[in-house]
Amino acid sequence: MARDEGRGRIALVTGGASGIGLATAGVLAERGWRVVIADINEAPARAAATTLGAEALALDVTDEQATEAAFDDIEARLGPVEALVANAGLIQPGAPPERLPLQEFDRVIAVNLRGAYISCVAAGRRMAPRGRGGIVVTGSVTASRTAPLHAYAPSKAAVVHMAACLAAEWGRSGVRVNAVSPGYVATPPLRAAMERGLRDPRLLTKAAPLGRLVEPEEIGAGVAFLLSDHASAITGINLPIDAGWLAGAHLTTYGGMPPAR
Ligand SMILES: NC(=O)c1ccc[n+]([C@@H]2O[C@H](COP(=O)([O-])OP(=O)(O)OC[C@H]3O[C@@H](n4cnc5c(N)ncnc54)[C@H](O)[C@@H]3O)[C@@H](O)[C@H]2O)c1
Repeated sequence: MARDEGRGRIALVTGGASGIGLATAGVLAERGWRVVIADINEAPARAAATTLGAEALALDVTDEQATEAAFDDIEARLGPVEALVANAGLIQPGAPPERLPLQEFDRVIAVNLRGAYISCVAAGRRMAPRGRGGIVVTGSVTASRTAPLHAYAPSKAAVVHMAACLAAEWGRSGVRVNAVSPGYVATPPLRAAMERGLRDPRLLTKAAPLGRLVEPEEIGAGVAFLLSDHASAITGINLPIDAGWLAGAHLTTYGGMPPAR
């Protein structure tokens, strides 16, 4: 791991006050990025920033004007934003489509897709004329497999495809855009669902060949790699970080995971 990977350059992490975003902010700070945490939840964003030696700002990623103003403010005070982690997102309680209120569908799409798009455009419109920049959006394994999450899973499939579209758009301008797709990570919303008996940890790990959940820092490590010069020829990809879940899910058809030898 290169501690000077970031070389003091600015990385903005949306949804950086909790879970995967918080861990990613930590990994990036450790690797020499100057991190700015942008989150709708201001108090934990400020607390995290103090711990990490980062900056914090309150931002609702669904608000285009506020997002553009936040980028203007950061660039005026600190310098060019060279990396964006468009990570802010909501999970959705499982519900059959007949019972999923349309307001809930709209809320999930507004943050997970529209909000990520707004952040990416704000970053790209500044990075492209400068001829460099890196963007990573947070997808999900549910982007590639079905789940009874009829707003969340399509929002994540769209955001992964959006990353590829933007990679094609800005490639000639030196801006790389990729997605990571986490498997199951015990962040506060998933932990709360497990505690309320809505998700069974045994089932979450059963289809993963590695037989465990993913640690938030393992997502951060993948994001840091994609933003680093080690990934200088990588753009438009979706990197699953899922303890093998995408590879293993189908084995339930054959009676489950082969035992450890
Ligand atoms: N935890 C998992 O298993 C898992 C799996 C796959 C993908 N993901 C994705 O990872 C990302 C982070 O999820 P997490 O599990 O760490 O959840 P989390 O709730 O711990 O973190 C999400 C953060 O986003 C912030 N946020 C929510 N709406 C926002 C908005 N409108 N503007 C700005 N910030 C906003 C929240 O305040 C919170 O700090 C999400 O995009 C989620 O869909 C999580």
